[in-house]
Amino acid sequence: MTRISENSAGGGLPRTDNDKARKYVLVICLLAALSGLLTGLDIGIISGVLGPFGSEFHASTIQLEWVVGGMLAGDAVGATFGGFFTQYLGRKATLILAAALFFIGASGCAMSGSTSAMIAFRVVVGVGLGLCDLTGPLYLSEIATTSQRGAMGSLYQLLKTVGIFLAFVSNSFLAFTGSWRAMLMVEALPALIFMIIFIFLPRSPRWLMINGRSEEALETLFSLRETEAEARQELAAMEEQLKVRQDGWHLLKNNRNFRRSVGLGMLLMVMQQFAGINIIMYYAPKILAAAGFSDQAQMWCTALIGLLNMLMTLVAVRYADRWGRKPILYAGYASMAGAMMCMAIILGIGPSTAGLQLAALAMILIFVGGFAMSAGPLMWVICSEIQPLAGRNLGLSISTGTNALSNLLVGTTFLSMMEGLGSAATFWIFAVFNILAIILLYFFVPETKDVPLETIEKRLMSGVRLRNLGR
Ligand code: BGC
Repeated sequence: MTRISENSAGGGLPRTDNDKARKYVLVICLLAALSGLLTGLDIGIISGVLGPFGSEFHASTIQLEWVVGGMLAGDAVGATFGGFFTQYLGRKATLILAAALFFIGASGCAMSGSTSAMIAFRVVVGVGLGLCDLTGPLYLSEIATTSQRGAMGSLYQLLKTVGIFLAFVSNSFLAFTGSWRAMLMVEALPALIFMIIFIFLPRSPRWLMINGRSEEALETLFSLRETEAEARQELAAMEEQLKVRQDGWHLLKNNRNFRRSVGLGMLLMVMQQFAGINIIMYYAPKILAAAGFSDQAQMWCTALIGLLNMLMTLVAVRYADRWGRKPILYAGYASMAGAMMCMAIILGIGPSTAGLQLAALAMILIFVGGFAMSAGPLMWVICSEIQPLAGRNLGLSISTGTNALSNLLVGTTFLSMMEGLGSAATFWIFAVFNILAIILLYFFVPETKDVPLETIEKRLMSGVRLRNLGR
């Protein structure tokens, strides 16, 4: 079958031959997943900035917490209200807007002359982050074919961990200069490049359909699917699905079962953030300092943490569809709880010997590895699987917003907890959160591996217990 030779459907990328459609989808997904890389760069950069920025501006602990927290507050706003932009501007335009906000925010941070200017521009970056976290996975799921959907969902998280790793490495290289401004520019430049790249992405066929532009949707699908029949079939299925009106607020008010899935989505995100991953992502050098590491060693150990975070995410990408989500989550939370407990004990004794310092580093690595293979990617996956179609957008906005708010709470209290309660007690608290998560996992979280989304929805709506929604 001859295929259209030019992509006129909203993107300027060259059209593909029939058998190349799969690769074309892959390239588009990779390019769109660069939005995940941007969020990762942002999460990672700040750990290197805090030290030199804090000394230059004599920033207090609370001010430093808000240099981190400003971004998280923006994140909460972007994630919660991003649904408006994805719906009215479209997925592609929202990605472009998010990259522009990253560019403006990161450049503003790099040029800021006071702590308050820094915090204000961190809020701008944060809005970009929230928009990406909501739109990136959504766009990927709408561009990918059904069989690629799971992997493409994890691709976003994978590129986020790549971004965190690259930021840690670049911080380590720049650490000797003490130039926090240069560190921040490492985030601004890719944002500008990615913004231009996003302009060339095709529009999401689903968004085109929602806006009554079915011909453009079909044209886009022709370029993304292997056969015209497949494209037409998908269009028809979409038409059918869109008859289900997105009426999340109405459903939330009137349907107890939808409130249960929204509650579960919120719980999953609280469990993810209260595990304590971001105290490591934002404050690793400070924790390593408490464990007795020198300045230079702190930065390189942080890069090692980033590398492990990235590599262990591959375990989830590869095995979540084979072993199931819950066994991996149990293993991940057990390692995280154990590592936090050992870390608390080591910090309690005081890491006075090289052996204890290495043990502290090993515990951080076990913790991060446990998170990256489990809660990191899988909480996002499960959140997107449990919401019924009619309330999916709202359900996802609420869980993404909850993720950001919990992140904000942990990120803006950690340094004060370390100062007020001491490092050992702080780590005991996180150990308890991880143990609690194992109990919550048992009682409330369903195993969704291999279960069609329609089945999950049917069970949810007929009142089946949350833990039995899957298998
Ligand atoms: C979390 C982020 C975290 C990242 C670390 C994500 O799943 O939502 O808050 O920084 O994992 O890789």
